Amino acid sequence: MEVEMDKLVSLCKRRGFVFPSSEVYGGINGFWDYGPLGVELKRNIKEAWWRDNVQMRDDMVGLDCSIIMNPKVWEASGHVGGFSDPMVDCRASKERYRADQLYVFVYIFPAVNHKGEPTEAWLAGLGASPEDAAEAPEKRAAKLAKKFGKPTDPPTVIPYMQIDVADREKVIGPSTEDRGTLTEPRSFNLMFKTFVGALEHESNVAYLRPETAQGIFANFKNVVDTARVKLPFGIAQIGKSFRNEINPRNFTFRSREFEQMEIEFFCRPEEAPEWYAYWRKARFEWYTSLGLKSEKLRLRDHDAEELAFYSTATADIEYAFPFGVSELEGVAHRGDYDLTQHMKFSGKDLSYFDEERKERFTPHVVEPSAGADRATLAFLCEAYTEDEVGGESRTVLKFHPRIAPVKAAVFPLVKRDGMPEKAEAIYRELKKHNNVYYDEKGAIGRRYRRQDEAGTPFCITVDSQTTTDDTVTFRDRDSCRQWRVPAAGAAQALRDLLEGRSIPEGA
Ligand code: GAP
Repeated sequence: MEVEMDKLVSLCKRRGFVFPSSEVYGGINGFWDYGPLGVELKRNIKEAWWRDNVQMRDDMVGLDCSIIMNPKVWEASGHVGGFSDPMVDCRASKERYRADQLYVFVYIFPAVNHKGEPTEAWLAGLGASPEDAAEAPEKRAAKLAKKFGKPTDPPTVIPYMQIDVADREKVIGPSTEDRGTLTEPRSFNLMFKTFVGALEHESNVAYLRPETAQGIFANFKNVVDTARVKLPFGIAQIGKSFRNEINPRNFTFRSREFEQMEIEFFCRPEEAPEWYAYWRKARFEWYTSLGLKSEKLRLRDHDAEELAFYSTATADIEYAFPFGVSELEGVAHRGDYDLTQHMKFSGKDLSYFDEERKERFTPHVVEPSAGADRATLAFLCEAYTEDEVGGESRTVLKFHPRIAPVKAAVFPLVKRDGMPEKAEAIYRELKKHNNVYYDEKGAIGRRYRRQDEAGTPFCITVDSQTTTDDTVTFRDRDSCRQWRVPAAGAAQALRDLLEGRSIPEGA
């Protein structure tokens, strides 16, 4: 089903998945807070990633580096010199745009000006592609058409970066009515700068890391010397990264503070193509194993022009979000670029000695680099469903049980006849192993709907039959099927269901 972003954002706010950061003060662009349900969802995603990529493997170790590192790290990595986006400022509105996301739509109207020339309007729109950017200029052109007549042809679309300097004066920015208010594109470094220590002096400048990967390279020797690892092996890290994005947009998709889940997988140079193929497939399958099953998940290989100069192959795992197809994760064959750079800048030997072959060399690396917030958003989009149950419409988040924030909700049907006591005892037992929820307020139908919206896979109800045969009702979120389970076996039954055991026949 096609998800409307507005509806998803509103559900996230209403049910406590995601809030705008510091909202009581009007928020701050590009920063988000995860509420009680959101934090559980995101933690489950990170824990699934850690479990599957680190703990379940024999060839992976973990790391947790500091966010602020010696600034030389970022000189070596190329971030000080090259981690920038072209930006354009609007002198009138004070808005700032990414120049590579600005498109100018040139409309020609039949009305002539005092020189007898047709009227032109150069209307700028903002978006990841011309199609994305078209909506606002189209609306403005429709208004102008009332005055100047219907445009003769569809507009010519020119990326702002390709517009001649002289013609920039004609452009009307996305948030102004005036011409010529947009500046020249300028390079803008995306790293957040700060000062370490009391003196705000250039010599004390440091950066909030824009990726977790460089902390892994900087610790390569420490890990090799202490963890008894042998090639091929990987180092994994989950942590916050910060980028002063010019245009944070599309909810949490492009934020200024976000979390990454990154692996640097080191191997012998001749084995790197095989490991690249392995990780490209393994990472794609990880998303499908957690429920991103639809054709919205895609794998796209970079063509030669897109590749970084040191990379021989890179693929993006993409998801068709409601706002367009965008990157969830990149898997890159980076050669020996990073270790070589850090050797050059630190003067330390980061080569590897192969004991068996008595050979010293610089390992090659394959980097699967994912974003925890983007993964969370994709799982939310995929799970969001509107359907009808018993003639009533409902909104349900069909999360895979492994990532569902709450695994089960326990209800007494009514607040009497010993039902609350029995339900609470079951709840306490289940809570020892899982995040479960207890609710005794309101009509049972409403309680089910609330859990459907939270994405809770199972509900367990203590009802009047419980008092006679000591069984409880289990209810499945997706199919709404119900069946009875002995109260004493409720914990085991839930464990089985969460592990993928199917719902009993005839339920
Ligand atoms: N070490 C390689 C690296 O950082 P990247 O493609 O810039 O590569 C990797 O980032 C992943 O981090 C992206 O695929 C995305 O999931 C996440 N990411 C990057 N910038 C982000 C942002 N501004 N907001 C949210 N997630 C972001």
